[in-house]
Amino acid sequence: MSKVKVLFVCLGNICRSPLAEAIFLDQTMRKNVSAKFDVDSCGTSNYHIGDQPDARTIASAHKNGIKIDHFCRQLTTTDLDRFDLIIAMDKSNYQNILRLASTKGHTGKVCLMRDFDHEGTGKDVPDPYYGDAQMFQEVYDILDRSIQRLLIHLEGTAQG
Ligand code: 4NP
Repeated sequence: MSKVKVLFVCLGNICRSPLAEAIFLDQTMRKNVSAKFDVDSCGTSNYHIGDQPDARTIASAHKNGIKIDHFCRQLTTTDLDRFDLIIAMDKSNYQNILRLASTKGHTGKVCLMRDFDHEGTGKDVPDPYYGDAQMFQEVYDILDRSIQRLLIHLEGTAQG
């Protein structure tokens, strides 16, 4: 059975989406299902290409007991072919991803992170870049519970 390929996307790829990628990896490892998935993250902007996650993102991951290891890259049109599910952190990211979509197949792969959050469906994952540590923890908590439900959803599509 081929792996399900999941891509998390934000603006800078140094705060929300690398944290989502790290949480996804951690949860799949804990559930012993990491072999069923390929996961990555990227940004719609070119602001931080090649950078490691923001120091506050790394601190938030470590405080919550998870590893984080990523180098920033920018979203490309190839990603829309390669990945099965493309998860935007906010509606602005969502619109920017759709700008690169050229087929209905592409469009159908794109969704919002909080589509999976029963406490905030339709809301954005707030951008913590100009926020404080408390905002990074709020982002962590949103991602953690959204990804728990994402995995329940994906378990139906990643049998075997
Ligand atoms: P992210 O946060 O999209 O969650 O990685 C941001 C990171 C950098 C910038 C904005 C948001 N920036 O303007 O450089």
